[in-house]
Amino acid sequence: MEKFIINGGAPLHGEVEISGAKNAALPILAASILSQDVCVIENLPCSISDVNYMMKILAHIGAKVKLINKNTVEIDSRFVNSYVISHDMTKHLRASYYFIGALLGRYGRAKVAMPGGCYLGARPIDQHIKGFELLGASVSVEDNATVDAKASKLIGSPIYLDMVSVGATVNILLAAVKAEGLTVIENAAKEPHIVDLANFLNSMGADVRGAGTDVIKVRGVEQLHGCNYSIIPDQIEAGTYMVAAAATHGNVIIKNVIPKHLESISKKLIECGAEVEEFDDAVRVSLDRRPGKCNIKTMPHPGFPTDMQPQMAVLLALADGTSIVSESIWSNRFRYADQLNRMGADIKADGQLAVVQGVEQLKGAPVKADDLRAGAAMIIAGLAASGTTEIEDILHIDRGYEDVVEKLKGIGADIKRVFCPEPNSLTNAG
Ligand code: EPU
Repeated sequence: MEKFIINGGAPLHGEVEISGAKNAALPILAASILSQDVCVIENLPCSISDVNYMMKILAHIGAKVKLINKNTVEIDSRFVNSYVISHDMTKHLRASYYFIGALLGRYGRAKVAMPGGCYLGARPIDQHIKGFELLGASVSVEDNATVDAKASKLIGSPIYLDMVSVGATVNILLAAVKAEGLTVIENAAKEPHIVDLANFLNSMGADVRGAGTDVIKVRGVEQLHGCNYSIIPDQIEAGTYMVAAAATHGNVIIKNVIPKHLESISKKLIECGAEVEEFDDAVRVSLDRRPGKCNIKTMPHPGFPTDMQPQMAVLLALADGTSIVSESIWSNRFRYADQLNRMGADIKADGQLAVVQGVEQLKGAPVKADDLRAGAAMIIAGLAASGTTEIEDILHIDRGYEDVVEKLKGIGADIKRVFCPEPNSLTNAG
């Protein structure tokens, strides 16, 4: 077991480089098996555990996965030889279920155990299944544990999503690119990672149009070929460093970003009194006084991202005044409030609403990362707080933040990763 120890209070200063986007990388890795060829994927955040698990699943079903350098991987999908993925492989992450769409697209058959991932409330997959069925697959869920989908032929279809779902949009795209005829996904997700996946599929010879709008049209093609592709920068990693800069009263240039993707975050930081300066592929964030309050409501893109809600709540916890945070995507994304309150915050969360009464100072305390973004919030809180914060359960943070200790140290943070023995592995000397 490992934990982070942070001595807080120092403003962050300098430059930090953002990695490739996790939530683009995961569907793109699954999509690579649609090509039966070689894909070279660049700007891949190879060292985060979610990406690692996806590469393990690729190897498990027969793909040859070769690390070319720290952030480039070559995937040779010619040798993929199985459509079965067991729970041992899928349990670590949500995105493992992208192999249902990808294997259906490749073989017309997928037998994939239910995914794991952060607990943020119920995470049903009814819209994924509806999409597969409309494309002509028959889908059963055995013992609530394994999705078995089969189709003698996938045929394009209009598909209306009952709610905007990133995962369902991805999975339907993966199954539809090689289906016969036209698929139209209405009420599709518009996140930057959906556009990146569509661009990757088109680089392999697919015909996907409209990604980034709520109507995506896919004209099926018979075959896809390999390609070289570079993944977009991670919007949420960038946003996390932006908030960290503001919360510590720092001044940080965040490089390798697409400022347009950060607009909803920049606007809220500005509302709180931060300065946000945009460059071609960088943003500079600074704040030299106590942040002001502001209200947040999470929405699908281009709204304020739910994956930035916990981090932003740390800034609001330090703000002058009371802010309301309203979570409209997930039913249980305020578990971090208890942890922040241990550090002196005053957050009252009820259902999908939280009232954040700003305090002047947070104080270091032992806390834990309940999930990935809750963990990111704990890091920001620890950096902004006086004294020492110890964060446990950092495996959640490792799922999505590449080189987080090194990057934070590079902008002046006092943070280290330490190994601590599991409680039950300690011998009782008495
Ligand atoms: N939903 C359904 N039925 C479905 C699919 C979704 O009811 O079949 C509901 C969900 O329960 C939720 C809403 O629709 O209330 C949106 O869920 P969505 O499918 O968009 O979420 P997801 O694909 O499971 C991805 C990200 C999450 C991010 C959400 C929302 C990945 C691997 N995960 O999840 O990222 O919070 O979109 O933007 O892309 C994270 O990175 O920390 C993370 C949790």
